[in-house]
Amino acid sequence: MKLSQLLTAQSQQMESSLVRELLHYSQQPDILSFAGGLPDEAYMPDFPALESVADSRQYGPSEGEKALREQVVATVAERGIQASVEQTLITNGSQQGLDIVSRLILDSDSMILTEQPTYLAAIQVFKLQGAIIQDVISDDEGMSVAMMRSLIEAHQPKAVYLIPNFQNPAGHCYSLKRRQEIAALLDEKGILLIEDDPYRDLCFEEVDRTPISSLLKSAPWIYMGSYSKVLWPGLRTGYLVSCEEIAPYLVKLKQATDLHTNRLGQNLIASYLATGEFPAHLEKLQRVYKAKRDTMMLALDKYLGDLVQFEKPAGGMFVWLTLPEGVSSKKVLADALEKKVLILPGTPFYPNNSENFDRNIRLSFARVPESKLDQSISLLADVIKAQL
Ligand SMILES: Cc1ncc(COP(=O)(O)O)c(C=O)c1O
Repeated sequence: MKLSQLLTAQSQQMESSLVRELLHYSQQPDILSFAGGLPDEAYMPDFPALESVADSRQYGPSEGEKALREQVVATVAERGIQASVEQTLITNGSQQGLDIVSRLILDSDSMILTEQPTYLAAIQVFKLQGAIIQDVISDDEGMSVAMMRSLIEAHQPKAVYLIPNFQNPAGHCYSLKRRQEIAALLDEKGILLIEDDPYRDLCFEEVDRTPISSLLKSAPWIYMGSYSKVLWPGLRTGYLVSCEEIAPYLVKLKQATDLHTNRLGQNLIASYLATGEFPAHLEKLQRVYKAKRDTMMLALDKYLGDLVQFEKPAGGMFVWLTLPEGVSSKKVLADALEKKVLILPGTPFYPNNSENFDRNIRLSFARVPESKLDQSISLLADVIKAQL
């Protein structure tokens, strides 16, 4: 049998993630990497002592460790989402949350609305289901409500996928007004909200972060969180909290997928959270990343201020640059790599006709040492100017 006969239609079309392919460069010590949404390991706390998690040897519940689920319930309650432990599922990172949700709702030919641009690995997951991904024009306050309404009325999409806080890749944070308008529209039309919120705790300014899920009155919702950006991504631990009707289906899918998330990782996180050190740790991360963001902003102004467009993100890890006309992000990637600076071109963040969107690059300020930010932006500026 030929391989093409063996693979499903979707598997044949699968593309590998550019970020994953570039990751091996970012691990080389002489490369200054702005690519990848990797947190800075210099600020990761030590793991709790192994004795505290010794009882992780046996199989566990598919829903996840009870102690961690209770902590998630308390965390999301502080954010305004009232949910029970039964509505909470621990996942192998929020990436698995996206996979499980996709398999729950997306048939081939189902439509899902996303921001434009959107998280590239969400595009991969939705495409794997064969779904039609309709990206919706988004500005610095969030997804366009008018366009969302007309697409919902024309196509009855299955769901809307949003990253309202410090969006990946564009860095924007939705205004409260936009959050309210979107919630009202979803309630009116009864459309499922998938709200992905891994960056919310990396917040540097006073901005509204009300979960849109908490504003809904009747529409179904799934809210996703992760410990990757604020603790240890290597443990691959995230969560899904969903409305009562959807939660049992997510658990069944989790069972079929991998029985349950690794208990050791879940218990390490639960045990760390129980120490009470997490809030101080978050404050430290906010200070460190804010300082890096500010240094990057200064360097961008200094070396590229009159050439590229960018907004100052109020949190998260990313700055989204629009390059001057005629400058290609792919060429910037190749030329910058020769100078040992790694960036991520914007194209994979566009689900449709991505080749038309070759004028953006995403820079993460999180993992480059602050002392090297100025120098690496200066090198990047040389590369961009050489293309003019
Ligand atoms: C918007 C968004 N969702 C989900 C994820 C996946 O995170 P996790 O490590 O929890 O799987 C990422 C990681 O970069 C992300 O940026």
